[in-house]
Amino acid sequence: MAWSEKFPPQAFFRNGTLAYGGDWNPDQWDEATLAEDFQLMAETGANFMSLGIFSWAKLEPTPGNYQLAWMGEILDQCHAHGIQIDLATPTAAPPAWLFEGDPTAAAQTRDGRRQAFGSRQEYCPTNSTYRLKAKELVTKLAEAFGDHPAVTMWHVNNEYGCHTMRCYCDSCAMHFQNWLAEKYQTVENLNQAWVTAFWSNTFTSFQQVQPPRATASFTNPAHELDFWRFADEQQLTNLCAEAEIIRELSPGRPVTTNFMGEFPVLDYAKWAQHLDVISDDDYPDPANPAAAHQVAFNAAMMRGYAGAQPFILMEQVTGAVQWRIKNTPKRPGQYLLWSLGRVAHGANGIMQFQWRQSPGGAETFHSGMVNHSGKKSFYWPETQATGRALQQLSQVANQLTQAQVLILTDADSARARHLAIGPKSSALNYEAARSWHRALWEKNIPADVHPVLHLLNETVDACDYRVIIVPDIFIDYPQLAQKLETAAKQGTQVVVTKETGVVDQTLRAVLDGYLGSWKHLLGVEVIDHRTNAANYSMPNGYGELHQPYPQPDPRVQTITSAVGIPGAEATHYLDTDYGPLQRALEKISTPTPRLAGGEWGEHVQATLPANPHTPPTKLNDEVEVVAQFAGDQGSDLAGWPAITRRPVEQGAAWYVATDLDAVSQAALLEVVCAFARVHSLSEGAPAGVEVACRGNIWFYLNHSDKAVQLAGVTGFELLTQQEATGHVMLPPRSAVAVAVPSGL
Ligand code: GLA
Ligand code: ZN
Repeated sequence: MAWSEKFPPQAFFRNGTLAYGGDWNPDQWDEATLAEDFQLMAETGANFMSLGIFSWAKLEPTPGNYQLAWMGEILDQCHAHGIQIDLATPTAAPPAWLFEGDPTAAAQTRDGRRQAFGSRQEYCPTNSTYRLKAKELVTKLAEAFGDHPAVTMWHVNNEYGCHTMRCYCDSCAMHFQNWLAEKYQTVENLNQAWVTAFWSNTFTSFQQVQPPRATASFTNPAHELDFWRFADEQQLTNLCAEAEIIRELSPGRPVTTNFMGEFPVLDYAKWAQHLDVISDDDYPDPANPAAAHQVAFNAAMMRGYAGAQPFILMEQVTGAVQWRIKNTPKRPGQYLLWSLGRVAHGANGIMQFQWRQSPGGAETFHSGMVNHSGKKSFYWPETQATGRALQQLSQVANQLTQAQVLILTDADSARARHLAIGPKSSALNYEAARSWHRALWEKNIPADVHPVLHLLNETVDACDYRVIIVPDIFIDYPQLAQKLETAAKQGTQVVVTKETGVVDQTLRAVLDGYLGSWKHLLGVEVIDHRTNAANYSMPNGYGELHQPYPQPDPRVQTITSAVGIPGAEATHYLDTDYGPLQRALEKISTPTPRLAGGEWGEHVQATLPANPHTPPTKLNDEVEVVAQFAGDQGSDLAGWPAITRRPVEQGAAWYVATDLDAVSQAALLEVVCAFARVHSLSEGAPAGVEVACRGNIWFYLNHSDKAVQLAGVTGFELLTQQEATGHVMLPPRSAVAVAVPSGL
């Protein structure tokens, strides 16, 4: 099925406008507040609310005693007030009675502790009581409200896996064993796949395989990875069970569940296949200067999961969250600005957590659209302005963004890399994809982000992109390498980075040179990994960090003080004789910045031998050396290739064997994009200004603290509903959206 059929832009919002609203909990307030809510919604232009996300105890106060009338009354009133509803299934927070009746319904941690009641999402995802009661309640809700005119969309559960990612209880053990038996058929196959001969971990029956509970030392990472996949699938099973009921009883209403941006714990690419609308919760930290990039990157990921069709921002905060150690509020203008950023990058709805700030409970001090101080709050005018802006922008709803650059992510690779107990412990996220995306974003070059799955299942064609970046795709996917080879032949510049193709899907190391099936395309292979360990510190028994190796005193420690430790450097400097790259560096600043990577280095060599006439700038007849590791810090990689390029018919394949710093990424991308003839949307935009384009609408987003002047902006400015005729002044943290006649 075409993406546009699966996620049609208008699917989730009937009247063709952009959605605006938030999580709404009128059941936690009194009648008078409800009346006021409708009044305030009208004042903000809010038109969409997520209702009942945490209302299980109110909908079913005691087992089987369903109290749905109150919700029906609210829905009727919503309909009367023109508020469309994203109706939630409240299955993320079962009530106390469920755990009282079945104490095993509470999830168990790795070290065997049952979660206590009193928060949320403490349930075990495979628990049969939970599964049954959830289905019963969803059936009641869908029967009662499935065709209610106010119900436009369904919001299943809430942030699956946010608090309970995995449960290690006996029920999960039993389900895990069945899952393994189905996957491997015989226990010998499992032993083979997991390399259990190591440490005498061999199993003789599936019943011996427990969830990876607390072990004396490292657990077999292959065991862990399968358990993570299993746990992911259990949650997905729960989503599908609810979605199936809803689709039967409430046909035509799309089903979503809110994603959490970069969250490889769940393989969202697979989840997306079971949803009708992709929605995301996104909380960039205003204290992070790159927060605006998170807006763009998460939006690009969501657009990717939706196959380039629009998504909905399901949650953000108007001001400050309450769950960080320090909760910096958004600065004036940022709430509107970042909302427009999401729209620019493909959102058809801007929703907040939450409509009304809680009077009590864990999130009392988390801002809402209506804060404790009501209309007196500084956020109120911005809440109104955001609603107004979205109304002015409604024509965006039918437009799609377009990009010529593709960046790949892969949840399974991120998990495998995190679990691999590798040369360096790595965070569980898409950091490499994010950093390459940022390098492009800083240049105002649009990029799509797609999961590898979309190329493997051919819902996305690699040949549609001029540049493809394959960042840290740890698992070797032979078909992926093959598809990118085809794209390269047809003109795509393929950039593969370090830590790609290191293991297979069972976490077995690729033997005889990493890069596995990428070797042919790249013409190189990775012989060894070499990480440095700058500022290395180790936790002691109390969890405090300490420097394990005190520096020797050369006055008395004459032996040790003579030992050089290149691994202590935080940087792998590189040298380049490659003209285009040198010129790209020169353009960045004077003096010319040094090309450099971070702690990660690899020993790379050509797969084919050189001949006697191979010049020093090449590894052999086909592979050029774009940069090599420098020797001036005594690096043991000195002289070895760090960036290579193999021309492949109309395109080329690049390999980058270190984690390039921001300057070097920018310089390399300059060269790669020049080869690919990919251009910035706005060469030389003033500092702090992001330029994005969605269909025929151009967004100029000033993230900086200074007013900026833009020249050459012409078209109809949607936010002011006025013609832009060239010069535009953008105050700090503000934006314009200009519709240009199509075809320009
Ligand atoms: C998540 C949850 C919400 C709320 C917010 C607070 O996104 O889905 O219920 O807890 O965090 O930021
Ligand atoms: Zn469990």
